[in-house]
This record gives sequence, C-alpha cells and structure tokens, in this order.
Amino acid sequence: MKRSIAVIATITVVVFFACQRQVSSPGTTNNVTSDSISAESVLDARAAPVCFEGDVLPIFQSSCAKSGCHDAASHQDGLVLDSYANIMRGEGIVPGNARQSELYQAIINGSMPPKGNPKLTTDQITNIRRWINQGAKNTTNCTSCDTSLFTYSGAVSAILSKNCVGCHTGANGGGGIDLSTYSGVQVVALNGHLVGTITHAPGFSPMPKGGAMLSDCNITQIEKWVAAGAPNN
Ligand code: HEC
Repeated sequence: MKRSIAVIATITVVVFFACQRQVSSPGTTNNVTSDSISAESVLDARAAPVCFEGDVLPIFQSSCAKSGCHDAASHQDGLVLDSYANIMRGEGIVPGNARQSELYQAIINGSMPPKGNPKLTTDQITNIRRWINQGAKNTTNCTSCDTSLFTYSGAVSAILSKNCVGCHTGANGGGGIDLSTYSGVQVVALNGHLVGTITHAPGFSPMPKGGAMLSDCNITQIEKWVAAGAPNN
C-alpha cells in the first residue's frame, strides 16, 4: 500500500515537471497551464486594441471563407466565416477567452486551415487571439492607413498577405495567381489585373472574392505603387 502511494506520488511529480517543461519551451501553444493562460489573456487585454474590420475579418475572409470551405455556399460543418455576425454565431468564439474558443483551438492545434492551404502567420494568429481576449467586439474604422506610404515592403505586401494570399498562394492559387511573392504580384501589377480587380473595374473579377472591397486608402496605396512601376522596394 505504502509502495503504491510512493509510486503514484512519483508519477505525479514527474508528470507535473513534464508539464512545466512544456510550458517553458518556446513556441509551444498547447498544454499550457491555467496560470500562463490567464497571464496571456491579461496581457492581451492590455495590448493595443486589435481592429476587427481591419485586422481580423480579412484573415477569416481570405483564409476560411473560401469556396469549398466556409463561404455561404459551402458552409462546411455549418460554419460561414465571412462576416462578424456569422463568425459570432454558435459557440466558435467565446468573447474574452481565446483558449475556450473552438475556432481559435482549431487554428492552434493545426487542424485549420486544413492541409494543402497556407497556414496563418504568427502575426495573424496573435491578432485573432488578442481580438478574442479583448472581448471579440465588432470594431470598425480603426485601422490607421497612410496613402503616402506605398512601397512594396512597407505597404503593398502586407495588404495582399492580409486580404488575398489565403486564396492566392503557389501554383494552385485562385486563377493560377500567386500573390505570396514579389514576382507573382509583379505580373498582375504590370498587366493591369491587380488594380482592375481591386477597384472592381468592368471586365475583371471583383477581388477579394466574396469579401468587402479593400479600403479606399489601401486601394490608393496599391494604385500609387503600380503607377510607380511596381518596384521591389
Ligand atoms: C476567397 C478567395 C479569394 C480571395 C480572398 C482573393 N481571391 Fe483573387 N481569385 C480567387 C479565385 C478563385 C480566382 C479565379 C476565379 C475568378 O477569376 O473569379 C481569382 C482570380 C483573381 C485574379 C484574376 C482575375 C482577373 O479578373 O484578373 C486576380 C488578379 C486576383 N484574383 C487578385 C486578387 C487580389 C488582389 C486579392 C486581394 C485583394 C484577391 N484576389 C483575393 C479567389 C480569391
């Protein structure tokens, strides 16, 4: 009897320290203790506010609300992830608690986006987590944007990765168009399709497909960059 208590005690200690170690290893997002989760939510709640409209909705629209996935027509698992109201329907998002939110869990446990689709970047995942821990509010008109900033590295590439790359990566990208690299973007910048699609000009497919138009400021930044010859600057 005494021995089995000793064995159980030993196992408990070993398991305890095994868990502790996992927590301290960088990059581990699963198996975190409740202490580190509450520290995370406290820090997130105090971080600069994440803008739903500017920083979160475009991620859902370009990485989740795709045809065959979670757009209105396909609604896999009954989920449509194309607007605030639809994202908040059901139990997927628990305001103030990212770790309890099934949609966030599916992202950090690696099941979403499914294999074969571009993974979300660390910044995108952080934005979603912060937005949930900050109360998952429908914040709009809150992203700062400066039309005098229109370099590829300082503006254009970030706009495209937020709004387009989820559907346009590699050779399988929508319409065979890869917007994840400069050389891919350069092609559509120079042949007129980039500006044609984002301004919803006649004769072009309106982009982002199925989503809201880019902001006027983002469109102006891209137009100015294209007019400057679409340099890799
Ligand atoms: C939800 C998925 C999705 C998103 C987000 C998306 N696209 Fe597309 N895109 C597609 C698909 C699918 C096609 C091919 C079918 C078509 O033309 O509608 C396409 C085609 C295109 C084309 C070629 C069509 C044409 O008329 O020239 C361009 C250029 C393009 N996209 C640019 C963009 C840009 C720029 C963004 C971001 C501002 C974007 N796309 C966001 C899915 C998407």
